[in-house]
Amino acid sequence: MSRLQAGRRHDVRFTLNGKPCTGEAEPRLLLTDFLRHQIGVTGTHVGCEHGVCGACTVEIDGQPARACLTLAVQIDGCEIRTVESLAPSAGKPWRLASRVQAQSRAAVRLLYRRDTDVARQLPAPASGPDEESIRDVLSGHLCRCTGYAPIVRAALEAAAELADRSREKTDA
Ligand code: FES
Repeated sequence: MSRLQAGRRHDVRFTLNGKPCTGEAEPRLLLTDFLRHQIGVTGTHVGCEHGVCGACTVEIDGQPARACLTLAVQIDGCEIRTVESLAPSAGKPWRLASRVQAQSRAAVRLLYRRDTDVARQLPAPASGPDEESIRDVLSGHLCRCTGYAPIVRAALEAAAELADRSREKTDA
């Protein structure tokens, strides 16, 4: 990365949920603020703002990252995925994303990977992720509102939904 000047806005070019996107950011601007306030993608939530709760998790080049600990200028040239990428069509959020919101991001990711594998025509696993694996990926995320049971339940329902979708694709 080239040397950046404090107080000056720098071009940030990246791919957001599969589409090219550009913006401008001062070197100190956090990715959470950049996505929400400049780009207008508000599905990335802010909780603790210091890397503990996981509410701000996005994918950067396929890896989960805390957007509250990432500077916007660091994503220049990267592929970013937010929870909005999970909606099957514009204005119609995917069931899990709409039901359990930010704290489920890790479970969404687990399930999304599985969905992507199906989309790539890779052999679909016989069953979806079980409760133990969902609880495992959620372990880095704090839920401060409802407890974890509804999140796990929603993830299991979404896994079943994806398994149905997978079977439909296989039968077609
Ligand atoms: Fe980023 Fe809590 S807001 S981890």
